[in-house]
Amino acid sequence: MRHIQIALTKGRLEKAVLPFLEGIGIDCSELKEKGRKLVFHSKNTNISFILVKAVDVLTYVEHGVADIGIVGKDVIMENEKEIYEMVDLGIGRCRFCVASIPSYDPSSYKKKTIATKYPNVASAYFRQKGEDVEIIKIEGSVEIAPILGLADAIVDIVETGVTLRENGLIIFEEMHDISARLIANKASLKMKKDEMFAVIEKMEEYIGNRV
Ligand code: PRP
Repeated sequence: MRHIQIALTKGRLEKAVLPFLEGIGIDCSELKEKGRKLVFHSKNTNISFILVKAVDVLTYVEHGVADIGIVGKDVIMENEKEIYEMVDLGIGRCRFCVASIPSYDPSSYKKKTIATKYPNVASAYFRQKGEDVEIIKIEGSVEIAPILGLADAIVDIVETGVTLRENGLIIFEEMHDISARLIANKASLKMKKDEMFAVIEKMEEYIGNRV
């Protein structure tokens, strides 16, 4: 049995992914008692895990350091990487939206300024609508931008809608549905075919049984 390295996204997705891994019979006891550790081994399989930031999941998988990754579709859409997207896990569901303060006029002909953590997704969206906008890249707490006048609107992910609501913003356009995806390194799929597909197929079966 060849070793499989899985890169997991630190933060929001971390907890949601555990039942999936346990559901397909992977021991996650080390992951559950992780403290500040970033590398973990499953006691009953040939699988180990690394815990990294979302965009780094893509990088580790693209370079083959990790064979498999679990990461949000938002991050996949924003960063063009040479990876295969294999399974929609149906967790971490949220959506890309255009949001702003109530006085925002989406149909205005004035050139708009859009603040976002996702400049590529935002540019592609407005380009496809035939609208020329200025994009300002922000690293977080994007909701502040239209309130303080940095931008006319934001493009961001909305999960519960609480952050928008608590900051007095509303959704003007729903862009794409997002969820966590299982991604794979292209070479690993060939070199470790049996081990890789064992994980991927079990994951698909687990998801099928949940529906
Ligand atoms: C994301 C997103 C929103 C919030 C939406 O930010 O950018 O701010 O979550 O979630 P909600 O609809 O459930 O309120 P994140 O928590 O990742 O933090 P950040 O702004 O620091 O990137």
